[in-house]
Amino acid sequence: MFREGVRLRCVICGSLYPPNPRLFTCRSCGGLLEVVTPVDRGFEWERVRARRFGVWRYRELLPLAEWVKPVSLGEGGTPLVRVDRAAGPHVFVKFEGSNPTGSFKDRGMTVGVTIAKGLGVEGVVVASTGNTAASAAAYAARAGLRCLVYLPRGGVARGKLAQALLHGAEVVEVDGFFDDALELVLEEYVERSPSKLYPLNSVNPWRLEGQKTLAFELVDELGYTPDVVVVPVGNAGNISAIWKGFRELRDLGVISGTPRMIGVQATGAAPLAKTWSTRSRELQVVEEPRTIASAIRIGRPVNWFKALKSVEESRGALLTVSDEEILEAMKMLARLEGLGVEPSSAASLAGYLKALEEGLVDRGETVVLVATGHALKDPDVVRLLVERNT
Ligand code: F0G
Repeated sequence: MFREGVRLRCVICGSLYPPNPRLFTCRSCGGLLEVVTPVDRGFEWERVRARRFGVWRYRELLPLAEWVKPVSLGEGGTPLVRVDRAAGPHVFVKFEGSNPTGSFKDRGMTVGVTIAKGLGVEGVVVASTGNTAASAAAYAARAGLRCLVYLPRGGVARGKLAQALLHGAEVVEVDGFFDDALELVLEEYVERSPSKLYPLNSVNPWRLEGQKTLAFELVDELGYTPDVVVVPVGNAGNISAIWKGFRELRDLGVISGTPRMIGVQATGAAPLAKTWSTRSRELQVVEEPRTIASAIRIGRPVNWFKALKSVEESRGALLTVSDEEILEAMKMLARLEGLGVEPSSAASLAGYLKALEEGLVDRGETVVLVATGHALKDPDVVRLLVERNT
């Protein structure tokens, strides 16, 4: 199913493994793995650009063999919108809300569910704050697979739950936070594998391969590398995946410089930002994460090491924004730019404004704010915002 020469590599000790779709952690040190895809000498960026804009335009840079037919809904190829009224002439929003299920998760699910289908499993399983569940449910439906989702009880925005149910997912509500739901999934379906269900959380390095294409699209559309990319951070898979995409383009010689990655967390759910600001080598766990941005209400991000490494390598930063700042940014994007994003996505604009204030970014730099999900995902927060402001 995989391209010739594809390997898995431990992000901590560098151990290499053959491409096993079920192997997520290093057998010698327990670190998370990343996919290494050798790219043909004949690869030409210009030839890739002749194809439809989206995840599969970059097939040669993805680990799946050419003959594998993707389970696809036309994901990726999302709008890049200049937001000069909300943020300035050099600032763009990458609007991931216009993916088929309304979030960036679709980039990963097209790859993850394609692998699940190829494995011949009965279905897929995820723990989720909502978007991963919505996306997994839709792609599983398309592939004719079962989808089982573990959700924190009361912790999932209504639009996302509605999508998971609409697409026929079986829902298990867990008393606790996302972190507890994920722990259950990892115990049940990763440590005791192989099960009949294929786990598609972001510990799965194959799923993250799809998410790295966001970096490819930015370079592709802008024609140059942005100075800074701002990403809301929850379980921390996405910031790691996007950074991996830039690293790969640099290694291929497509770009010469790479952007600084700035990760944004909500003040009440900021394990990584806390770890970063204290220069700690151990994750500063948040036992009871709290924020209005339920997508990133996460206290023990599994990809914490990968994310810290990405931020460090890119000479970026991690910072926090309050719920008030998130709501204000959400309103700015909606009212000044016509962009309806969910609260966690607005954290990237709030984070950019904070980074300007703190001198981490200069007004003249080209910045991309990743708006990870659509406003319709969370109608209750939209209502709160509207009722407070009108
Ligand atoms: N933005 C949105 C809209 C999300 O749904 C998520 C994560 C993030 C940002 C953070 O991305 O976890 O890769 O750092 N949502 C996951 C879910 C956890 O279950 O839907 P991350």
